[in-house]
This record gives sequence, structure tokens and C-alpha cells, in this order.
Amino acid sequence: MIERLRKNGNLSDEELKAMIESSSDDQALFEAADSVRRAHYSTDVYIRGLIEFTNYCKNNCYYCGIRNSNRTVQRYRLTKEEILCCCREGHALGFRTFVLQGGEDYFFTDEWICGLIAEIKSLYRDCAVTLSIGEREHDSYQAYFDAGADRFLLRHETVDSDYYRILHPDGMSLENRISCLWDLKKIGYQVGSGFMVGTPKQTTEHIIKDLRFLQELQPDMIGIGPYIPHQSTPFSNCESGDMRLCLRLIAILRLMFPCALIPATTALGTVDKKGRELGLKAGANVVMPNLSPIKFRNQYELYDNKICTGEEAAECLRCIRKRVASIGYAIVTDIGHVKKFSCLNSGEGL
Ligand code: 5AD
Ligand code: FES
Repeated sequence: MIERLRKNGNLSDEELKAMIESSSDDQALFEAADSVRRAHYSTDVYIRGLIEFTNYCKNNCYYCGIRNSNRTVQRYRLTKEEILCCCREGHALGFRTFVLQGGEDYFFTDEWICGLIAEIKSLYRDCAVTLSIGEREHDSYQAYFDAGADRFLLRHETVDSDYYRILHPDGMSLENRISCLWDLKKIGYQVGSGFMVGTPKQTTEHIIKDLRFLQELQPDMIGIGPYIPHQSTPFSNCESGDMRLCLRLIAILRLMFPCALIPATTALGTVDKKGRELGLKAGANVVMPNLSPIKFRNQYELYDNKICTGEEAAECLRCIRKRVASIGYAIVTDIGHVKKFSCLNSGEGL
């Protein structure tokens, strides 16, 4: 089955179910995924600098620590100057992609966001700007794109409408989220999507539907990570997602989407000390170190015990570089290097 998935990039629902649910062939699965990642990306690992610029959020997703009803978080917003300072530091360290991530916070108007994007792009002409700010109107997405934004991350989370309701309160809409993703694609963004693994009451069938949706959407990046409970959410007593299952899904994604950018996520590094290394060995090829100011790091708490909240950006990069090298891969930061790979347009991997 592994060989067929590698060759055809696809399996039937029944076969996928068997593969997702059994751990007996994990080693062979991870090796197959690693060989596909090496064929397309050699041992390269791309870095994206994450700037968590607001932890205000108007939404109330049951799983998320910065949900609006959580009165225990201290809320913060970075100023434009603080954000530019993160970019300056990141650029000096070799980052060429800045990911502006935040809760759904309408304090930041389209005009303000466009101004920020334009400023970053004019200061750092060799850099890509990625937005991860949730659902907005089509025309807002268009305006950010016109201002210079290159990419947008919006995990679909689930495409099953009943399961969507288990994870989100009334007032939030699956249809809207999915139509946002199609809007982003049509506008011309490189799009990232994905879902959490092991959220309460998630089934293999839900996961297979997620994979089918990703096959339709064909995103450039696919981010998955284990669900981790946060103490001040309705799901506080639920268990974390299973790391092995998450690793298996990374490997399956690599075989289904040979060219995709797949991050070894912070959540994966949080459920296990070696989680990110294992993710890379199972087919992931991106890491997203944190460039946010250290004094706010632990306030962007989507889940409990998030790693890397006490390290300066430079320290974090040094640590992650060492971890990546320890398993035989290498972080790339120079533009010339990525051009030789068929999967990427020039500079895209940075
Ligand atoms: N555990 C793991 N991942 C989470 N996210 C949100 N809350 C949690 C949690 N408790 C993920 C969601 C979101 C992304 C930014 O972080 O998938 O899209
Ligand atoms: Fe951030 Fe290790 S990657 S401290």
C-alpha cells in the first residue's frame, strides 16, 4: 500500500483508513515519505519567522487558548514599530519569510494592515510576507494582496459540518471558512491550510475527509499538529492528540503531496521533546521559529506548555539549526540554493 501511495499519490478511503489506524508499518511509511522529500527537496529545511502580533480574537473556538471568552489571558497588540523590529532582527538572522499571525482582531483595519505589508515589502525586497489572520472579506484579502502580501495561512480545521459544530460555537461558519480559502487561491496567494490531529471526538473518517479536501484545494503548504488542551477552554479536560498518529499523517501527506511545504509544528515539539525532529524525518520540510518579542511570547498561548516562549529569536534559531543538523538535514537561508529544485519557483522556498 505504501508503494502504491508513493506511486499514485492516492489510495481508496478504506486503504487510507487502514494506514491511518495501524502503526505496524510506521517505519516503512516514514522512510518512503523521507525518500520522496529528499527527491524533491534534498535535505533542505525552510524557515519561516513567526510574528504573533495580536492575541485578541473575536472568536470562541472551543479548543483555542486565546478564545474571546478566556478572561485569564493578558491581551496584547504589537505596534507597527515592534513588528518592524521583529522583521529587522529576523532578516539579520537570515529569515526571508515573515508570518504575521494573530487572532481575528478587527482593531487592525485593512488600511493599517496594507500599510504594514507595504512597509515590510519596501524595507525587505527579498522577503515574502505571509498573513495568518483568519477570516476576512474577499475585498480585504484582495487589498492585502495588492499591498504585497504573498501567502496566507488558514487551516480549514475540518470540512465535516457536524464535526465543525463540535469544535466551534454558533455564529461561526464552515461555509465561510472554506469560501475564504477559495477566495485566497483565486486572488493568487500561495495558500496554506491544514488541521489539528486528535481534537476531541475526531474520527478517522473526519481525517479522510480533510485529506480529500486538501486534494481538491491543492494548497502550497499543509500544516498539521497535535491538538493540545488549554486549561481555560471548554476542552480543558480532553487529552492531547497522539504524536504517532500525527507523524503518520505527515508521512501520508508527503506521499500524497510530494511538493508541498509541510511544517514540523511547534505543537509537535510541545507534545514530545523530539517531536519536530521526528516530524522532519517523517516528511516535513519547514520549521517556523518564533520572532515575537520575548515579553509577549507566553501570552500567545493557544495551548498549555507551548515551547520556545523563553528564547530570543537568535537562540531559538541556533537551537533549531542544531536539532535539524542532528538528524542529517540543513536549514537553508540563501536564495541561490533553492532554485535547483523543481517544486519551487525562484526564492519561493525562502
Ligand atoms: N492545540 C493545538 N493547535 C491549536 N490551534 C489552535 N488551538 C490549538 C490547540 N489547543 C491551531 C489551530 C490554528 C492554528 C493557528 O493553531 O489549528 O489554526
Ligand atoms: Fe526555540 Fe529550541 S527551537 S528554543
